[in-house]
Amino acid sequence: MTIQRTFSILKPDATRRNLTGEINAVIEKANLKIIAQKRLHLSRGQAEAFYGVHKERSFFGDLCDFMTSGPVVVQVLEGENVIAAYRDVMGATNPENADAGTIRKEFAESIEANSVHGSDSLENAAIEIAYFFSGIEIVG
Ligand code: RTP
Ligand code: MG
Repeated sequence: MTIQRTFSILKPDATRRNLTGEINAVIEKANLKIIAQKRLHLSRGQAEAFYGVHKERSFFGDLCDFMTSGPVVVQVLEGENVIAAYRDVMGATNPENADAGTIRKEFAESIEANSVHGSDSLENAAIEIAYFFSGIEIVG
């Protein structure tokens, strides 16, 4: 049994459509625990730094426009193998390819406006959590 922490973002398409509660319900029903959460409006610099790994990709500018287009909710999730477990709950990047019952299948608007982010590795989870949260804000 490996209890892990991952970093999650409910993206601007989710806040715009008032879906944060419905998405949190899917997360909690999957037995993942929300141990930190706050609402932010990312600056351009924050969005570019966060998705810096994609800076050479054709969609990078559009992605940063989208991520700064409205508020987001940033979260820390905890649970058994939560990094992979949350990626499963999220579904494929393109909602057209996502399995039924996943967040992206149920809620995403497009491959870009796909409602949620989840860390893709233990190393990136630690970096992303530390970027957005101080220790006192995480209550496991
Ligand atoms: P995320 O990082 O947000 O959890 O998503 P992911 O791992 O499933 O997908 P990734 O390849 O890391 O892409 C990051 C985000 O960029 C947007 N995207 N747009 N227009 C496009 O072809 C395209 N491809 C990706 C999505 O918002 C995706 O989640
Ligand atoms: Mg990714």
